[in-house]
Amino acid sequence: MSSPQTAAITAVHGWLPPDILSNADLEKMVDTNDEWIRTRTGISERRILKDPEKATSDMVAKVIEGLCEQRGMKATDIDLVIVATVTPDMFFPSTAQLACHKAGASNAWGFDLSAACSGFLYALRTGGQFISNGTHKKVVVVGSDKMSSIVDYTDRTTCVLFGDGAAGVLLEADPTGETGIQDAILRSDGAGGEYLRMQGGGSLNPASAASIEAKMHYIEQDGRPVFKAAVTSMADVSYEIMERNGLTGDDISWLVPHQANLRIIDATANRMGVTRDKVMINIEKYGNTTAATIPLCLWEWQNRLTPGENLILSAFGGGFTWGSIWLKWAMSPKA
Ligand code: ACO
Repeated sequence: MSSPQTAAITAVHGWLPPDILSNADLEKMVDTNDEWIRTRTGISERRILKDPEKATSDMVAKVIEGLCEQRGMKATDIDLVIVATVTPDMFFPSTAQLACHKAGASNAWGFDLSAACSGFLYALRTGGQFISNGTHKKVVVVGSDKMSSIVDYTDRTTCVLFGDGAAGVLLEADPTGETGIQDAILRSDGAGGEYLRMQGGGSLNPASAASIEAKMHYIEQDGRPVFKAAVTSMADVSYEIMERNGLTGDDISWLVPHQANLRIIDATANRMGVTRDKVMINIEKYGNTTAATIPLCLWEWQNRLTPGENLILSAFGGGFTWGSIWLKWAMSPKA
């Protein structure tokens, strides 16, 4: 990196809705079974935001409040909020504006970023630039998705996969550059768009009786090509970031993978030479929360992390989008 100043994570917080949708619940809704879901994906249950009055911005606001509490700062201290999501409350205002208003972050500007399951990595990379170039002091990056709002609960091929949740981090400068974001590789290939998408509601297919009839307002996924691309791309990019920085599996303290499928996670860890005990995995409890999976892991694992540890964050998702970020952990475990 050209500038010695890096963007370090100085607080992390997550929020999950209380209601659980288990594999047993899904067995009553579609033709599926617990054994198939667990062996093919690793998922046992997921959280669902049932309150019809609540949306993605409410989860982001909870995350902002939690970050402020952990860091001992006021919401008005925040300069910028980036929300990675594919389930914004609405097209505009952006979820970032709605969440800042709810959390009292009245001095922040912000925007939404759409990169599906790679959204948190895209947003972390983007937010990090505002810290490392010295223009901003406190940047909040949140991944938040209310996937239940776009899941077709009659489609067994997608409804078993997704859950709702949000988590995020506060980025501040490390003037020494010894912790924080060290390197990032982010990629995309729009040719993969047709395999994983939600077609309805945008300028191509505005909402209409016909778009509803055609179920265009739900996620559609052709699982096999997505799986094939995910297995190779996520493993390749994770290996590439290690190789170009001279890191081996032994140097990595933790792999923090997007939680879409346990088999994709295992393939990535194997390619990197990282053993299972160094891989953050919580897919069994939350399923695929899209932009929230990686920060949810950081939040759950934070008390097991120590300053200077090497973390590799890796994701693959709709777009296609994929990437890897190497960061050195900055926070001490809570007493
Ligand atoms: N219960 C029981 N059977 C099912 C279910 C289910 N819920 N879903 C599918 N099946 C059946 C299929 O109909 C098929 O039956 P058939 O052989 O008679 O046709 C059989 O199981 C196998 O289906 P596959 O799709 O080949 O199953 P696969 O092993 O590929 O697993 C899965 C499907 C889990 C979706 C997998 O393809 C996958 O993980 N894909 C990648 C997901 C991903 O990474 N997405 C990117 C991130 S998401 C984002 O960006 C928003």
